[in-house]
Amino acid sequence: MDWGLKNRLSKIISPKDNRGVMLAVDHGYFLGPTDGLQTPRTTIRPLLPYADSLMLTRGVLRTSVNPDVNIPIVLRVSGGTSIVGDDLSNESLVTSVEEAIRLNASCLALSIFVGSKYEHKTLVNLSKLVDLGERYGIPILAVTAVGKEMNRDSRYLGLACRIAAEIGAHIVKTYYCQNFEEVVEGCPVPVIIAGGKKLPRELEALQLAYNALRDGAAGVDMGRNIWQSRFPTSMIKAVRSIVHGSSNPEAAFEEFIKSSEIETHIESR
Ligand code: 5RP
Repeated sequence: MDWGLKNRLSKIISPKDNRGVMLAVDHGYFLGPTDGLQTPRTTIRPLLPYADSLMLTRGVLRTSVNPDVNIPIVLRVSGGTSIVGDDLSNESLVTSVEEAIRLNASCLALSIFVGSKYEHKTLVNLSKLVDLGERYGIPILAVTAVGKEMNRDSRYLGLACRIAAEIGAHIVKTYYCQNFEEVVEGCPVPVIIAGGKKLPRELEALQLAYNALRDGAAGVDMGRNIWQSRFPTSMIKAVRSIVHGSSNPEAAFEEFIKSSEIETHIESR
């Protein structure tokens, strides 16, 4: 691995504790204006001080993040499908590596759909992106997307993560599941977890993050459970205290409550 690639990777997963908080705001690339992310700039701005990196598309980066901001960018470069189209797995590379370099991306993200109709295409997409990433010193994050018909169990997620790592991904994002430690064990590169759909209570999302880290995850790439919370800033601070601090879910939740009281106070002024 060359110096540039290692340097970029160290911005995503801190070498101090081998962990990272990635804020995911790329959902519009196939979902359109998702709840909580209708106006990306408004959602993103207050959360930036608490994220180690920001995952998004070039369109939202250009329009909704000031270029003087000091946050490593994880650029989603796969897409070309939508929630109303035929098949979400039929993704292609939709942003070039030259463009990613112009945008000063620290990492490139792409989804693979193991077990889907377009499995082969998305895995070949990953292999091409890894070759380009290696050429220019940019790490690749493989996102293990799960179709509706797939079980989110350790057998399936372990398979998808391992294949991503075998093809050369430098980080893999997946979902937390029972026996998650088996997924991590079988994947020779850092595994981070997505939050998934907004859980009814913040404590549940904090528990999810805690359990994932306890079982070997290198961090979170969390979106909806942060910005669909009524108190997104308090939520990302609480998630951060689990990832980089020593908080257990209850302590982080207490922190969330205290911080949300302050947010409520500010809102009501
Ligand atoms: C969308 C993604 C998201 O970045 C990922 O799912 C994380 O967000 P969330 O925590 O809301 O699940 O890859 O395709």
